[in-house]
Amino acid sequence: MNDPNIGRIVVDEHELQQRIRDLGKAIATDYDDHPPLLVGILKGAFMFMADLARAIDLPVEFDFMAVSSYGSATRTSGVVRIMKDLDLDLTDRHVLIVEDIVDSGLTLAYLSKNLRARGAASLEVCALLVKEGLQKVETELKYVGFRIPPDFVIGYGLDVDERYRNLPYIAEFTGAVEQKFT
Ligand code: IMP
Ligand code: MG
Repeated sequence: MNDPNIGRIVVDEHELQQRIRDLGKAIATDYDDHPPLLVGILKGAFMFMADLARAIDLPVEFDFMAVSSYGSATRTSGVVRIMKDLDLDLTDRHVLIVEDIVDSGLTLAYLSKNLRARGAASLEVCALLVKEGLQKVETELKYVGFRIPPDFVIGYGLDVDERYRNLPYIAEFTGAVEQKFT
């Protein structure tokens, strides 16, 4: 795409696909005798979820949740609203949250607490990206794709005002970030 706001490529398409294949293999090994329910966090994780699921050679099941974190332009506040809740009951399920990116960690901390209260047998997190050094709260991440510098990034599900989600790679966003996180 010829767009001056698409900056340096942080993770290219090949690296993404290779790492996701490895994550899928690790998950298939760990969950061999108890296939997980994958819970994708919309919208950002939709592309990662689709590729990751195809890399897990187990009879996984799917559900999705949409959340909105309110804050200033580039910072989440930790106030999270559930826009779309899960369809499935989590009782006794082995839940694996599939998240696009962990920044402050506040969204994930809220989600983990919320889902943990629903009686799952286990709850783990697979995050494609983690921004280095920005986590305000400790969240245990069992699977991490890439640790990246704390710049605002786009592509492969990640947006600025709903754009750039279809880029097949992760790039730095060099325009002005004036969006509400979704
Ligand atoms: P946290 O609560 O600060 O960890 O923010 C997590 C959410 O903010 C993610 O699920 C993303 O939707 C969004 N977010 C954080 N950093 C970025 C970014 O660099 N690009 C696009 N979205 C981001
Ligand atoms: Mg998001």
